[in-house]
Amino acid sequence: MSQPPPLAADPEQAVHIPVLTAEVLTGLNIRPGAWTIDGTLGGGGHTAQILAQSAPAGRVLGLDSDPAAIRRVGTKFADAQASGRLIAIASNFAEMATIAQTHAFAPVDAILLDLGVSSFQLETAERGFSFRHDGPLDMRFDPTHGTSAADIVNTWPEKELADLIYQYGEESRSRRIARYLAAHRPFHTTAELAQAIEQAVGGRRGSRIHPATLVFQALRIAANRELESLAAVLPQALPLLKRGGRLAVISFHSLEDRIVKQWMQREASSYVRDAMSVYGGHTRTPTLTIVTPKPITATAQEIADNPRSRSAKLRVAERV
Ligand SMILES: C[S@@+](CC[C@H](N)C(=O)[O-])C[C@H]1O[C@@H](n2cnc3c(N)ncnc32)[C@H](O)[C@@H]1O
Repeated sequence: MSQPPPLAADPEQAVHIPVLTAEVLTGLNIRPGAWTIDGTLGGGGHTAQILAQSAPAGRVLGLDSDPAAIRRVGTKFADAQASGRLIAIASNFAEMATIAQTHAFAPVDAILLDLGVSSFQLETAERGFSFRHDGPLDMRFDPTHGTSAADIVNTWPEKELADLIYQYGEESRSRRIARYLAAHRPFHTTAELAQAIEQAVGGRRGSRIHPATLVFQALRIAANRELESLAAVLPQALPLLKRGGRLAVISFHSLEDRIVKQWMQREASSYVRDAMSVYGGHTRTPTLTIVTPKPITATAQEIADNPRSRSAKLRVAERV
């Protein structure tokens, strides 16, 4: 497995390298004048490409739960914002339908979701996303709302903590880790938690990834209710698209990918099972067609250049 990229001394100087950029632009079929919703602006890497490809009149409505990402994008894309080509809003993408309506930004040609966490967030110690920096155990995309990782790890019953670590972290040592954490809490910093996890599993034992990696991933997914937001946005995105408009989702976790895949398959199916009947269902007109029967993944070259792309899966669908 490749080593993570070296830490930037100043998180503001960290560069978030967008993944599968060429594949996203082709998949979304971005043309001059296109209107696009980027539900996960992050560092604006994909949005920069979309603005360039849709120039001179194309527009982007960009959302990010993280107010710091929106502030940074405001500086980086000051011209595009001033000219009205970019509207950047601090919001969870689960509010996409309302925000698009508020800004009269529908119907659109393309919608992009590039899920998960950005390099800026990982490299800012105070955000508490990474055990490679010591910081408060937070992990919220929006630090002004919701439940922090510390709230979860310090208050959830041991059994629920174990289930969380098993399901969202896909960590087979979940019970042992949860038992140790429940017995030694509270934890206030990323370093304290990472050290406790290491103790719980008896050290690193030659493992290539730090034993805290999967637990941190599980806590982040839970703190941000990431799977719930994804399930909420998909049915909102579809009616925002023009006929022939495209939706692209990049996921980094098998549970995310499963939600996207199953939703696309349901919407692309001409047969609906009746919820109240054990006997069958009825036929209907599909609402979308699947453009990528198998998810697109990064090339060996991209993985070498940007190890974060290793687990990325891109699925694209088109509104019928
Ligand atoms: C992988 S980064 C996106 C990077 C971006 N595509 C780029 O090229 O710079 C994911 C971003 O999505 C944001 N995010 C994650 N879940 C979100 C949600 N439910 N609503 C809005 N933003 C979300 C995170 O705050 C983070 O900034």
